[in-house]
Amino acid sequence: MKKLWAGRFKEETAGVVESFTESISFDRRLWKYDIEGSIAHAAMLGRQGIIPVRDSERIIRGLKEIAKEIEGGKFRFRQDLEDVHMNIEVALTEKIGSAGKMLHTARSRNDQIALDLRLYLRDEIGQIVSALTALMGVLAESAERHIDYLMPGYTHMQRAQPVLLSHHLLAYGEMFGRDRDRLRDALKRVNVMPLGACALAGTSLPIDRSYVAKLLRFGGIAGNSIDAVSDRDFALEFLADAAILAVHLSRFAEELVLWSTEEFSFVELPDAFTTGSSIMPQKKNPDVAELARGKTGRIFGALISLLTVMKGLPLSYNRDMQEDKVPVFDAVDTTKASLSVLTSMIPKIRFHREVLAKTAGAAYSTATDIAEYLVRKGMPFRDAHGVTGKIVLHCAENKMRLEDLKIADFRRFSGLIGPDIYRCLTAEGSVAAKRSRGGTSRSEVRRQIRRLRKIMIREE
Ligand code: ARG
Repeated sequence: MKKLWAGRFKEETAGVVESFTESISFDRRLWKYDIEGSIAHAAMLGRQGIIPVRDSERIIRGLKEIAKEIEGGKFRFRQDLEDVHMNIEVALTEKIGSAGKMLHTARSRNDQIALDLRLYLRDEIGQIVSALTALMGVLAESAERHIDYLMPGYTHMQRAQPVLLSHHLLAYGEMFGRDRDRLRDALKRVNVMPLGACALAGTSLPIDRSYVAKLLRFGGIAGNSIDAVSDRDFALEFLADAAILAVHLSRFAEELVLWSTEEFSFVELPDAFTTGSSIMPQKKNPDVAELARGKTGRIFGALISLLTVMKGLPLSYNRDMQEDKVPVFDAVDTTKASLSVLTSMIPKIRFHREVLAKTAGAAYSTATDIAEYLVRKGMPFRDAHGVTGKIVLHCAENKMRLEDLKIADFRRFSGLIGPDIYRCLTAEGSVAAKRSRGGTSRSEVRRQIRRLRKIMIREE
């Protein structure tokens, strides 16, 4: 078949070039958006009198039929037609005759592909935002359900201070809330209409870009036609946001891997979300969490890949930019898959309350509470830190826990210590005392649950 652009060529395209330059194998995924954009464009051409209204109507009818055929799996995409745009345009002309040849008036594939990708990302970002809301929801529920569970809080991967398990889970709720905000913010820049830029310079024909933008529910139109066809910031921004989201998922996944080890024994992962070993019959592996952690690599890869494509590209459109799609599609699929599987798994995780509570109170994790006790009795914090350090050293050398010390033993370190010290020494007492805003006391954690639920229903 003769190419749509064959006019100025004497030779046919080499086979190897056809397969090297084609994008239909992956951009066919944009067909719905391509047709939606073409329908709006054709409506505008007719309304403006650039093409006869009857032809515009024929085009729209033809495009709708093609959409049905593609949906029903009855459309044959052809590699020799290079991309989704030309596949659909050729099919249209085959279907409705010469009216189909008017569709590409005042349009180029350069503004067309920018439009398709923006429509696609607008849709997908919306879905990812909803998936994040669902994830925040299961975290809030889990936090509510486990409000009485203690756990050791860590710094440097060393037991630091007792916290509520719910508090720890809600930390992830905050991260995913910020991820959602970031994506919604990116949406503002995705939701800008490039059509009408044509190849790069605009057109001499009397088009109405605002009308097309209105039909396609865009928030605005691209202000500079050269930028409109060469900008991929909106995709980069999405990928950067997806990369940060992937970091958060990987940290959560990593904790699940650790917590499900025999060594930690903090959680039991549901059978339905773990897999066995082909050789070791006793094994139950946390593959879902591992893959959620591992897939982060693909999303970082997508970001780096598109950044590299765009770096140093001269204005305006360059064919290099065709390389934007595979990484963007892959990042979208991967993000959605990871969010979905973790959201289904979280409600089924069993937390081992006894182990968590026992570990929370061990390893002198309430030493800071002794220091704060001494501060309340009037000692400067730095001195209190020193005194408490001595108490801990004494206990460590004598293989004792803090609560094993008699009141007389305590008073050898400081006369300020009285019998009320024992309230500070247990994990429960320590947690209950952390009533500072955002802290780990039950009332503060309940406040954080309410906060998360409020963030979840926030529209903007
Ligand atoms: N397949 C191209 C892309 O993805 C569409 C735009 C092609 N434009 C052109 N002048 N060859 O970027």
